[in-house]
Amino acid sequence: MNLFDEKRIRGLYWDGESLHFIEQTKLPHSEEVIVTRDWRVIVDAIKRLAIRGAPAIGVAAAFACVLAWREDENQKAWNDKLELIESARPTAVNLSYAVRRIRETMQAGDEEDCDANITSEAEKIAIEDDAMCESIAKHGIQLFKPGTRVLTHCNTGALVTYGIGTALGIIQHAWQTKNIEQVYACEARPLGQGSRLTMWELGKLGIPATLLTDSASGRLMQDGKIDCVILGADRIAANGDTANKVGTFILATLASRFEIPFYVAAPSTTFDLNISSGQNIEIEYRDADEVRNCYTHQASPKDVNVYNPAFDITPAELITAIIREDGVFYPPYDFTERST
Ligand code: MRU
Repeated sequence: MNLFDEKRIRGLYWDGESLHFIEQTKLPHSEEVIVTRDWRVIVDAIKRLAIRGAPAIGVAAAFACVLAWREDENQKAWNDKLELIESARPTAVNLSYAVRRIRETMQAGDEEDCDANITSEAEKIAIEDDAMCESIAKHGIQLFKPGTRVLTHCNTGALVTYGIGTALGIIQHAWQTKNIEQVYACEARPLGQGSRLTMWELGKLGIPATLLTDSASGRLMQDGKIDCVILGADRIAANGDTANKVGTFILATLASRFEIPFYVAAPSTTFDLNISSGQNIEIEYRDADEVRNCYTHQASPKDVNVYNPAFDITPAELITAIIREDGVFYPPYDFTERST
């Protein structure tokens, strides 16, 4: 399987025995794939952001659970490994969702069929993710009309799902149906998911795109160059509050200031309806060196204090609509109802 096939980039691929994944930390300089049967390699990849983005983290975690079982088929050891897998990153709820599904499948199945049962459940999680991306894109394009200039943040495409992506999947469909004039992508410092990954994906798709520093977004909107903002999510609370890549809250606040529609696209696996608001979402704080260094170059005096949240929370009141695989939701958000 060529994960870099021009016709369909795949961030992840499961061949029944091994997980293949694009080493995202190396992009765009080098296009490398890691093929592994070791669950520890997957956990490490999630922590390092070699595998990243909420849906991809969930799918990869499901296969990590399968590989962890195959290591020694020992229930007690497996439960301990699942805890390590589940705690690889805290904010994207897709991770605990996937591990819970695999754990429940194991508990519900016959002892002789453990491997087959959990493997088929992990494959189901991946296939469902692919299908949800397609449905999100179909619902999302109704929000676009010819000539749309759209701003996005972080990276939400094929690299971070088992399918075409969430927000970037919508952008891809809107481009194919001639409803996009230009995509603007924020850099997403400190790790450049926008500059390194979204610009790389848009380039492969042949979609016209312009990169900006995160702090240029206000000027861009003030300049009248943006018709809507669309991005993904790591966790959405029952009231619609949304955790996503740090900087999302700034964009939502600016979009509200300029009366620009602000859209979030995510599969149901990213919704955490057990929590009433974003206040209950754990935000991951990452290593200070990510900010002290600009990629590989030192960008500040060595030991400066750093504030480095990976995500922020955008209050639901700033979100114009949320696109899920079953439709488009508008405020006041009630995700237990079917969407309009
Ligand atoms: O820290 P990252 O790169 O994993 O953050 C990812 C994001 O914030 C994405 O926008 C989100 O997971 C949606 S992916 C479809």
